[in-house]
Amino acid sequence: MKAIILNEFGGVENLRYTQIDKPFAGADEVVVQVKAISINPVDVKTRAGKGVAGRLKDHLPLILGWDISGIITEVGSSVTKFKVGDAVFGMVNFPGHGKAYAEYVAAPADQLALKPSNISYEEAAAATLAALTAWQAVTRLINVKKGDRVLVHAAAGGVGQFAVQIAKNLGAYVIGTSSAANKDFVLNLGADEHVDYKAQPFEEVIGDIDFVFDSVGGENIDRSLKVIKKGGSIISIPSGLNDAVIEKAKVLGINGYQFMVTSNGDDMEALAGQLERGELKSHVSKVFSFDAMAEAHLHIESGRTIGKIVVTL
Ligand SMILES: NC(=O)c1ccc[n+]([C@@H]2O[C@H](COP(=O)([O-])OP(=O)(O)OC[C@H]3O[C@@H](n4cnc5c(N)ncnc54)[C@H](OP(=O)(O)O)[C@@H]3O)[C@@H](O)[C@H]2O)c1
Repeated sequence: MKAIILNEFGGVENLRYTQIDKPFAGADEVVVQVKAISINPVDVKTRAGKGVAGRLKDHLPLILGWDISGIITEVGSSVTKFKVGDAVFGMVNFPGHGKAYAEYVAAPADQLALKPSNISYEEAAAATLAALTAWQAVTRLINVKKGDRVLVHAAAGGVGQFAVQIAKNLGAYVIGTSSAANKDFVLNLGADEHVDYKAQPFEEVIGDIDFVFDSVGGENIDRSLKVIKKGGSIISIPSGLNDAVIEKAKVLGINGYQFMVTSNGDDMEALAGQLERGELKSHVSKVFSFDAMAEAHLHIESGRTIGKIVVTL
């Protein structure tokens, strides 16, 4: 089968196309013929030797990627949840070795959900790592409630698009930040208010926030802490840029969290239900061919992605 391997961490030229054997399904696994793969900042960071490269360095040569949708072609002996021919989607083995940049992927059955029939393979692949991050953070760690004032930074990005929708569905008053170019996109996600972070410092125009979802990190954390109520919360997700969030928040009587998403089939099923009922939309702004993986990585690296981008096979 076709796959992209990484012999060593580095630039996009290290994404090497190759032919390798198809994987087999272990007892608890299924093999998925991949239709679409979504690309995340962590793919790009890991390729460059950051992200989760530390966890994966002993796996070199490795196959990057975690987010897939596709059709099951083989079912492990202990799997009862799925059958051959089922269309599924999920985030495979994150933060471990996902091996998603390939024609076929072996995935633990308990990390996948059936793909809703009303959404495309592209939209399904896009609603995995980014959607799980927003879902797990907003519902597990924070428990956002009706009436909460929620600030979502980078609301037009991969995680932000889902965080806005999920917080809004829980009854929160949602404020999203993005550049002016993405204002309509953010408001169409359901945000009640938009702040153009380039036009003015957001902390000068927003206050009284119960929860900040931060996917920018660095000084954005210090500035966000100024707008949160005592007793409120902040989650900051960009690893390496969020080191002091817990201590800095504590001094101000705010709950600070770092967070890393993990593969979870129950959460995938919760997302599948919302996508099926139309409560959650998965926005894909660009589709690349498998041959253009380097281009897809460079697009993510630009930091200007709207919603999600996917690669199709
Ligand atoms: N810890 C975890 O489990 C976890 C999970 C997922 C992602 N992450 C991390 O979270 C970060 C975001 O991920 P993502 O997938 O959402 O990225 P993304 O899709 O690449 O984000 C792109 C978006 O960021 C916006 N943006 C950039 N700078 C901004 C700023 N200063 N203020 C507001 N918006 C800004 C851009 O909007 P404009 O063009 O309008 O500026 C663009 O729409 C990455 O660092 C990623 O590695 C962590």
